[in-house]
Amino acid sequence: MCGIVGVLGNHEAAPLLVEALKRLEYRGYDSAGIATVTGGRLDRRRAVGKLVNLSDLLVHDPLSGKSGIGHTRWATHGAPTVDNAHPHRAGPVAVVHNGIIENFRELRADLAAHGIGFETETDTETVALLARHYLSQGMPPREAAAATIARLHGAFALCFLFEGEDDLMIAARKGSPLAIGHGEGEMFVGSDAIALAPMTDRITYLEEGDRAEITRAGVVIFDAEGRLANRAETRVTREATQVEKAGYKHFMAKEIAEQPGVLADALRHYLKDSGTALSLPEEVDFTGVDRLTLVACGTASYACLVAKYWFERIAGLPVDVDIASEFRYREPPLSPTSWALFVSQSGETADTLAALRYAQEKVAKIVSVVNVPTSSIARESDLALPSLAGVEIGVASTKAFTCQLTVLAVLALKAAVDRGRLNPEALAGHLAALSALPGLMNHALGLEDRIATIAAQLAEAQDVLFLGRGAMFPLALEGALKLKEISYIHAEGYASGELKHGPIALIDSHVPVVVMAPRDALFDKTVSNMQEVMARGGKVLLLSDGAGVAEAGAGIWQSLTMPMVDPFTAPILYALPAQLLAYHTAIAKGTDVDQPRNLAKSVTVE
Ligand code: F6R
Repeated sequence: MCGIVGVLGNHEAAPLLVEALKRLEYRGYDSAGIATVTGGRLDRRRAVGKLVNLSDLLVHDPLSGKSGIGHTRWATHGAPTVDNAHPHRAGPVAVVHNGIIENFRELRADLAAHGIGFETETDTETVALLARHYLSQGMPPREAAAATIARLHGAFALCFLFEGEDDLMIAARKGSPLAIGHGEGEMFVGSDAIALAPMTDRITYLEEGDRAEITRAGVVIFDAEGRLANRAETRVTREATQVEKAGYKHFMAKEIAEQPGVLADALRHYLKDSGTALSLPEEVDFTGVDRLTLVACGTASYACLVAKYWFERIAGLPVDVDIASEFRYREPPLSPTSWALFVSQSGETADTLAALRYAQEKVAKIVSVVNVPTSSIARESDLALPSLAGVEIGVASTKAFTCQLTVLAVLALKAAVDRGRLNPEALAGHLAALSALPGLMNHALGLEDRIATIAAQLAEAQDVLFLGRGAMFPLALEGALKLKEISYIHAEGYASGELKHGPIALIDSHVPVVVMAPRDALFDKTVSNMQEVMARGGKVLLLSDGAGVAEAGAGIWQSLTMPMVDPFTAPILYALPAQLLAYHTAIAKGTDVDQPRNLAKSVTVE
């Protein structure tokens, strides 16, 4: 999604802005631009495509000035063109924006009624025009910005820069996060602390509805009601803003490889007594909870689907899983004795946040599992449990997924204990299975070379099917999502037993079928489904343990022998070969692994 930066500095702003935008590249974008004000004069440069195009433009046509704003745009209203790129300018005002101004058509009609015309198709231009309109009525910049912001509906983060004002930026947050950075006689604005890391580690996060008046001397913040607000300054750790590839070719490769380590960290946090007991905040008490509603988007929603198997089977607790974008508009009735649980890596996903707000006041407790502890979803939950994956930069979620699963597994065990469904021996068995995961993951990562060889052949396919049964079914969905988003190969995940109800029509010798099936109680049924595929000339790639591979018999196209794993934790372990398969297929196809086309890391629009 769009990235915002702003600098009121003591050095040339353009290189700082471009460097900060580079650090926001991971969010996904299709054009970029900066504006500076120097000697009172406002000017801007914008370019379509990667940041290198903007840098090249700046070499030929530099922008001077120590005050400036910058933006990476992920197109929503209007194609990725130079005209639609930010900063948008209307006379003496330039603005960068993340999010969507929902009432922009109404505002355009109002402006048109004042004889004001438009140059772009964007909602953001309306903001700049509105601010210019208020300035032209004699309002000073601070008031003009406040009056403009008051007219806007939707979810947004904004930063304004004004001609004639070398020492002023106005920033506002409603729905999209924004961080203010404090320097020595310098001030900064960024979509997140990662953008500002080289400049400062002293950060103030704006709250919902806040407006900030920023000068080199500091920041004055007003809350949604226009009252002066006191927002804490925090120091962010180096780990929280680290965006180095550490020798890996891609962030995704690094993040896949980090999983044994981050999972061990998460287990250390959620288990105690050398992994033999659960360690959760005391509010996590499922006594009297009669239902759980799990809500998320994309990969995080697949983590919820896996968790449904765990909560229902181990804890006997009924679970509904919803995709966040469908949840609130469906207006589902929620029981006041139920809990709603929201899962999100970024903690800023607009659909998930909206779903959380829908559930507020309707359920006994709002719990979230989030990777960014300062995020909106974390802050608006009654209880936020960190997934502890560390910063995830690759657009395709990997380590965040396995860490989400780990936290959800621990929660399912706690629910089972609280509901009297798990005796101490059974609990000990499940905890041992969790504790074994980091070691097993290292084993699974050892299959990378073989996976790369198979992926080179998979890259030839136009369509790929993924199959799984039980808690491995959501893994089939996740495997298919990973493959399609970074290799652009069409892929679908199905429950193995569903194959014969339709998708089997797709099977021929050109459609590889990836079967994710440890040798568990359902394995024989999966073997039958594989036979159905092979009988129709289909190519099966089987991911199973040694026993499963041996039992599957002849006729399999390729197999990957995974370590033996407890059925409880198998979905966590099998995520790794699915991720590696997608990664190496994308490498074989030469796609942009970390920033796949059209995708954004933190999806802050509905
Ligand atoms: C896929 C992927 C997305 C996200 C989804 C939710 O690899 O990363 O499907 O899982 O956009 O994002 P978060 O978890 O930030 O709410």
